[in-house]
Amino acid sequence: QKDGYRFFMEKEIHEQCVVTSDTMLGRMCDEKVDFEEFDSSIIEGIEEIKICACGTSFHAGLTASYLFERLAKVRCSVEIASEFRYKEPLLNKNTLFIVISQSGETADTLEALKMANKEGLKSIVVCNVDNSSMTRIANYSVLTRAGIEKGVASTKAFSTQTVVLWMMALYFAQYKNSLSIEEMNSELKALREVPKSLKVHDSTHEKTKRLSKRYLHGHGFFFIGRDVFYPLALEGALKLKEISYLHAEGYPAGEMKHGPIALADPELFTIALMPQNLLYDKIKSNVEELSARDSTICAISPLDFDLADDYIKTNKYDHYMLEFFEMLVVLQLFSMEISVRLGNDVDMPRNLAKSVTVE
Ligand code: F6R
Repeated sequence: QKDGYRFFMEKEIHEQCVVTSDTMLGRMCDEKVDFEEFDSSIIEGIEEIKICACGTSFHAGLTASYLFERLAKVRCSVEIASEFRYKEPLLNKNTLFIVISQSGETADTLEALKMANKEGLKSIVVCNVDNSSMTRIANYSVLTRAGIEKGVASTKAFSTQTVVLWMMALYFAQYKNSLSIEEMNSELKALREVPKSLKVHDSTHEKTKRLSKRYLHGHGFFFIGRDVFYPLALEGALKLKEISYLHAEGYPAGEMKHGPIALADPELFTIALMPQNLLYDKIKSNVEELSARDSTICAISPLDFDLADDYIKTNKYDHYMLEFFEMLVVLQLFSMEISVRLGNDVDMPRNLAKSVTVE
């Protein structure tokens, strides 16, 4: 069932360009986004959005928080479900509560959803499994249509969740009239190009294989990015940790100077996400600071960057989210190839289970 791929993870990385088309199917009309799961009454009276999730799904939620605020102009906060549960959160009926879960069974996320339901909040679950515990109790369920994900390290679940959430941000933007026609059209055009941006390019895959040799020995990795590339950095670091067992941290690039840069030396690997369309000059200067302190830099960018020790060139796009998705594939391949080189079990990493049904 691996269809000729070495691992389920590899197959699922390749599938992303197909399944994200399924995610959008019937939900994208010529000039707007539509969900059969709910109508515009869902946003009536809503003043803010709160997202709760764990792990990779939390990273999709954090990405979405930038999109909800930027596109739909709705306040949005994101919390890790295991923290949310016990902090005695103050919930407000004008909050739309969104949980994100591939499995729909994660104990902490399920409990957070129950708490929101109990307080009478409108709830939505973004989920990959129909008839799961969460889809049964949320007011509305939006399925991601990723198909079964077998690799313990989540790949296509994340990309499809992010697509659904981006579409939801646009749906709310339509209702709130927060984008001009031109802006909306350019968002929709970019969404349609997502499957293309998720294609695995052989040359990129080869490059990650070659680089994996060099990035095995060191005292740790920092994945850095800004804006939505910060949650992407978190996701890149989580993937590497899960299947390579190497120490990796995702960090907002602008925060490095507030402490972590003290770790910089040639044995500290910095994986820098440097998109063309979003804060390029800012991230560039953060990376320059790390380079000046001798960190080994691997830049992922469509733009040439002289200071990088290694460089993975991505394609140029008009929209930063397309750069986001292409870089996601690079990060997934990179962690997979490091794991292969270390002789680890890519699909079934030690100490992890696909579904975490205990808290
Ligand atoms: C990472 C991974 C986990 C899950 C997390 C939440 O690759 O798979 O971090 O994302 O356990 O799981 P779901 O999304 O099923 O609630």
